[in-house]
Amino acid sequence: MQRNIILIGFMGTGKSTIGRNLSQTFGYPLIDTDQLIVEQQGRPIPEIFESEGEEAFRDLETELLRSLRKHSGHIIATGGGIINRPINRELLRELGYVVWLIARPSEIFERTSRNSNRPLLNNDDPERTIRELLEVRTPLYRDTAHLGIETDNLSFDEVATGIIESARYHFGSQK
Ligand code: S3P
Repeated sequence: MQRNIILIGFMGTGKSTIGRNLSQTFGYPLIDTDQLIVEQQGRPIPEIFESEGEEAFRDLETELLRSLRKHSGHIIATGGGIINRPINRELLRELGYVVWLIARPSEIFERTSRNSNRPLLNNDDPERTIRELLEVRTPLYRDTAHLGIETDNLSFDEVATGIIESARYHFGSQK
């Protein structure tokens, strides 16, 4: 297993923010899979979904995870649907210590309604979509993660510190 820390979780659970916080506070380089895909493709995620469809985006995620296998010592923030494919779940665990960020559906709705860059929620009833996707995905996040953190009542600093401490313990006990 590589020694990265991988953040998984639903849209709006703070993966990118916590990833930046971990990277800045503890000095590990950050890889944000959504951002990297956008850079590599030269267009935003809604455009990729619109022109090529969700499956094409999922292919890009799988390809990217494969290419990350040579990395170690990184923080890797991922897109919320990366756990959909069994192969991705396998690759995520090969990459390192997988941390699942958990938030209440109301908090997710509140955070995701601030912008429209998430194609899966650009519909008439995003609250319902959130509930439906959570139902399907929650067991997948649970199966993939080494650790789950309820973030609702914690500051970003508290979440980041908890992650680092648990990851150090995990990697330490692997030697
Ligand atoms: C998605 C989540 C998004 C992005 C894409 C699809 C999903 O990432 O990868 O819009 O299927 O949940 P965030 O979780 O960073 O919003």
